[in-house]
Amino acid sequence: MRVLSGIQPSGSLHIGNYFAMMRRMIRYQEEHTLFVFIVNLHALTSVSDAKRLSADTLTAAVDFISLGLDPEKCFFWVQSDVPEVTELTWILSNVTPMGLLERAHSYKDKTAKGISPNHGLFAYPVLMAADILLYQSDVVPVGQDQKQHLEMTRDIAIRFNNAFGETFTIPEAEIDEELAVIPGIDGQKMSKSYGNTIDIFETEDVLKKKVMSIVTDSRGVDEPKDPDSDSLFQLMSLFIDADEREALRDRYITPGLKYSDVKKELFEKIWEFYAPYREKREGLLKNADTVRDIMKAGAEKTREEAMKTLDLVRQRVGLKY
Ligand code: ADP
Ligand code: TRP
Repeated sequence: MRVLSGIQPSGSLHIGNYFAMMRRMIRYQEEHTLFVFIVNLHALTSVSDAKRLSADTLTAAVDFISLGLDPEKCFFWVQSDVPEVTELTWILSNVTPMGLLERAHSYKDKTAKGISPNHGLFAYPVLMAADILLYQSDVVPVGQDQKQHLEMTRDIAIRFNNAFGETFTIPEAEIDEELAVIPGIDGQKMSKSYGNTIDIFETEDVLKKKVMSIVTDSRGVDEPKDPDSDSLFQLMSLFIDADEREALRDRYITPGLKYSDVKKELFEKIWEFYAPYREKREGLLKNADTVRDIMKAGAEKTREEAMKTLDLVRQRVGLKY
């Protein structure tokens, strides 16, 4: 089975990214044909600082490798290093109705927030469809926020297949319901664009500060608390097993629990959880050229796969003569 997913280098990677996508992908490398990439072309729709984009792209690659992704066991590359995807985007644009793009939540949300829309933002889902279809992906592990993008990808693939003959595999989103929406420190969905993230590789001080500032309700120590509506409980649940979760739930519903105690415990859990990866990351950050070489080799290997589909697509639409 072909499993594919990408991540934007539009800021540091956070624990929402880790549990919803990165960890699943790292586990899948043992059993599936895996495609993982850093979507820097998509990030252009929100980042206009060249130095930052370039640095965050490299760091995202470093983070993935530090956390256990093995570039030898999968296809791992930076999106813009496989330019075939932009040709496929253009071709797919011609079977993509305007109405489909106009209904995209991410586009509507951003314009509603006052971001002046440009063509890149509008066409974002077509590039994402090209990402997925170019590798004939079967399954795409993502968080809940990407569900609509996957539906649009399927729609575009079906339209193409109907117009030009069977060409693309119709992919399925894989959303883990328990991890579909991981809250940030303000209780909204954790997102690089909301400034509410807990990053995977925070420094100790910043991690402590962020965890201590997680928003909880105002119930006093002597009142029972509601674990199901509490972001702190949801975040803690990511780092503990089912028995520990039940024990914590009991503490919540029994008077006497102090949120600040749970925050201290969460800080310790997160710090320990990522400790084994920190050293490897430091080493890789000092050897940026090695990482660049790994990514270039990954792109070369990936381009061969991309060409197989693109060749067929060119033939299907009449670009071969
Ligand atoms: P961000 O919203 O922080 O920019 P991305 O858009 O790069 O994150 O998302 C990368 C992957 O992580 C996607 O599959 C996305 O659905 C998932 N993801 C991001 N934030 C969360 C979250 N808070 N909860 C669940 N999944 C998330
Ligand atoms: N839009 C996705 C996000 O913001 C990133 C992405 C781009 C992606 N291309 C993809 C995810 C292909 C999965 C498959 O998270």
